[in-house]
Amino acid sequence: MEEALHHKLLLLIAFFIVAATVLPIVEANIANFDEVWQKRAEDARKAALDAYHPDPLNITNDLNRRVHEDTRGNNGTGRKLRDNEDDACMATNPIDRCWRCDPNWASNRKKLADCALGFGHQATGGKDGRFYEVTDPSDDDMVNPKPGTLRYAVIQMEPLWITFAHDMEIRLNEELIMTDNKTIDGRGALVQISNGAQITIQFIKNVIIHNVHVRNHYPGNGGLIRDSVDHFGIRTRSDGDGISLFGASNIWIDHVSMSNCADGLIDAIEGSTAITISNCHFTQHNEVMLFGASDSFSGDEVMQITVAFNHFGQGLIQRMPRARWGFIHVVNNDYTHWLMYAIGGSQHPTIISQGNRFIAPQDPNCKEVTKRDYAPESMWKSWTWRSEDDLMMNGAFFVQSGSPIRFASKEEMIRAKPGSSVTRLVRYAGALKCVAGKPC
Ligand SMILES: *[C@@H]1O[C@H](CO)[C@@H](O)[C@H](O)[C@H]1NC(C)=O
Ligand SMILES: *[C@@H]1O[C@H](CO)[C@@H](O)[C@H](O)[C@H]1NC(C)=O
Ligand SMILES: *[C@@H]1O[C@H](CO)[C@@H](O)[C@H](O)[C@H]1NC(C)=O
Repeated sequence: MEEALHHKLLLLIAFFIVAATVLPIVEANIANFDEVWQKRAEDARKAALDAYHPDPLNITNDLNRRVHEDTRGNNGTGRKLRDNEDDACMATNPIDRCWRCDPNWASNRKKLADCALGFGHQATGGKDGRFYEVTDPSDDDMVNPKPGTLRYAVIQMEPLWITFAHDMEIRLNEELIMTDNKTIDGRGALVQISNGAQITIQFIKNVIIHNVHVRNHYPGNGGLIRDSVDHFGIRTRSDGDGISLFGASNIWIDHVSMSNCADGLIDAIEGSTAITISNCHFTQHNEVMLFGASDSFSGDEVMQITVAFNHFGQGLIQRMPRARWGFIHVVNNDYTHWLMYAIGGSQHPTIISQGNRFIAPQDPNCKEVTKRDYAPESMWKSWTWRSEDDLMMNGAFFVQSGSPIRFASKEEMIRAKPGSSVTRLVRYAGALKCVAGKPC
């Protein structure tokens, strides 16, 4: 433990030096990096260090243990899992089991905030706040958004648990800039945030995004945009990500269906950490997830991300994810399509791949799951990229490097549920149709 604290202290010192010199010049889509943004950036650095886990094995082990516990005595028998049994509980993994079996989920929505596992497990979103119902899908005024719109909800200072009155498509006119302590909860409606600009989670903490569709985002032009009730400023062009995490911590993205955006579907950069991406369904996209955008920004050493129970499906090409610097636990995901590679990176990220299923494409040149950039083998052979209990199909292979992981703690690494269990664990990935009064 002492060793872990020592490491955290070193990291803290390094982080502040790097951040202080690099951050102000980094492109943040903020045209005027005024006092408000400077303070947010500084608070975000502190929040990232608070959220950083000195013993990541504790988090990876906890998730794996929960999957084993959840499925014990439940291997094929006893549970009703057929789609036509409306009243059956459809939960097939421990995150879902935490809330989906409750027929009263609609009057017990905040239960979800207790359900995250992995590095984002402390994300509670708007749990401590009021409910706010979005009734108006429009997004016309970037500086004084109309009450009832999603943009009005996400700029409030107080924690809010945001729900939707009915099915709607929200076309974001410019990037949607969120504030701390928010949950976007699309359960009970078909919510499509699409054909507009990206969701931006910048220098803030504690956000849950759940059960919405995000697709066809393109770059916003920028201009005057309100980023909280008491501040607005000029933004430059936004990237056209699905969801952009920029200096963000304690973030949980669950049951989101994402496809076809101009840049990444989910990008986590500039010292973002304590993130879980789970139960999502990704399709039709080139560069799926980028974790760390710069080989020279060592501030991304704090980055710790869990990618669990997701389905990487049709029409995907690469970056599931592509990582730098940080620690990435990629566990129990189903990779059914990629055209170039699945998992890549540069600048020595730690990648623990456990219990995934990898189905390689037909192209004999693209069977390798992994891809290393900007480093000769003599360098990357010391990067910790490990594969354990992954199910390799159609010729897929994972090139490991580094030695089996050692940690400050003396704990053993708990093995994940093997890749052969993935089709079941991931069966309900993506946005769900939840009906009030029934298990979801
Ligand atoms: C993680 O740490 C907590 C608190 O120190 C401990 O109670 C728990 O057993 C640990 N979990 C695992 C899986 O090691
Ligand atoms: C289910 O799993 C348990 C322990 O994981 C094992 O003892 C049991 O034999 C399995 N049952 C079936 C039907 O496979
Ligand atoms: C967010 O919630 C935390 C914990 O409840 C609180 O300390 C913090 O002040 C909140 N942030 C804002 C901006 O309200």
